[in-house]
Amino acid sequence: MPPMSTPKHFLQFKDLTREEFDHVFTRTRIIKDRYQRYERYWPLTDRTLVMIFEKASTRTRLSFEAGMQQLGGSAIYLNTRDTQLGRGEPVEDAAQVMSRMCDAVMIRTFEQEIIERFARHSRVPVINGLTNEYHPCQIMADIYTFIEHRGDIRGKTVAWIGDSNNVCNTWLQAAELLDFNVHVSTPPGYEVEPERAGLYGTDHYEHFGDPMDAARNADLVTTDVWTSMGFEAENEERCRDFHDWQVDADMMRVAKPGALFMHCLPAHRGEEVTAEVIDGPHSVVWDEAGNRMHTQKALLEYLLLGRIDS
Ligand code: CP
Ligand code: NVA
Repeated sequence: MPPMSTPKHFLQFKDLTREEFDHVFTRTRIIKDRYQRYERYWPLTDRTLVMIFEKASTRTRLSFEAGMQQLGGSAIYLNTRDTQLGRGEPVEDAAQVMSRMCDAVMIRTFEQEIIERFARHSRVPVINGLTNEYHPCQIMADIYTFIEHRGDIRGKTVAWIGDSNNVCNTWLQAAELLDFNVHVSTPPGYEVEPERAGLYGTDHYEHFGDPMDAARNADLVTTDVWTSMGFEAENEERCRDFHDWQVDADMMRVAKPGALFMHCLPAHRGEEVTAEVIDGPHSVVWDEAGNRMHTQKALLEYLLLGRIDS
């Protein structure tokens, strides 16, 4: 039976504390090792995750679905088109119903407000699988990937080049919580909105007009598409505005020697990043994508079962 007490949700990055992330990352290492050894680990036997997608996905769907199966549970895919959500059933009613039939819900939707309304009426944990404002599961995987390759991220510098979108906002929240710095460079008119990013202060990020200045001496350079899902009508204008915000080999050269390159994917080679960089020696994008599954398995274990140390 799903728990009756107030569930713990992961709606934005700062919903977990630094200690909780330390725990999730420790568990990720253990769970990933087991997976790589083909060792069965089924703590979520008979548990069900419902996944609601209002936008397209490859990685998020696959990583949650495969992850639940590998933990002994199952995942059910729903989308707006085929459910009553697409015909105007209130989110609050859907939350009441769905959370009586499953143990956790993952939602990919438009405004953050939708997922927050759902969570307020859910009896089980709700996980943000991307909203217009945030993508916390992505940054959890990115930070784990950084730790795998370079160790602790505390005190390090991340350069964000491009749109101040959901992924950028989440990097900024993570920087405040985990104590690292983000150098952001966006074209004029696309700057970070601190309130929308859910920031308490501005100590952990700095804006640079020139993307080369943002990348200088960075430990990690990262970017994302110029046009996010839901903003397709602005695509032509954005392609013009973002033209000079491309991560290329010159930009990687001004970063620290050995700097990493990350991209949440899907990527557009020749737009926000050159093929030379994303397919080059700095890039860890495939590890980053794979770690979506491993970190989310640890997150599911934590949200559903609490701290496990075995
Ligand atoms: N990075 C990411 O969330 O990918 P998908 O859109 O394929 O899920
Ligand atoms: N910023 C992108 C991320 C896709 C994973 C989008 O929202 O479309």
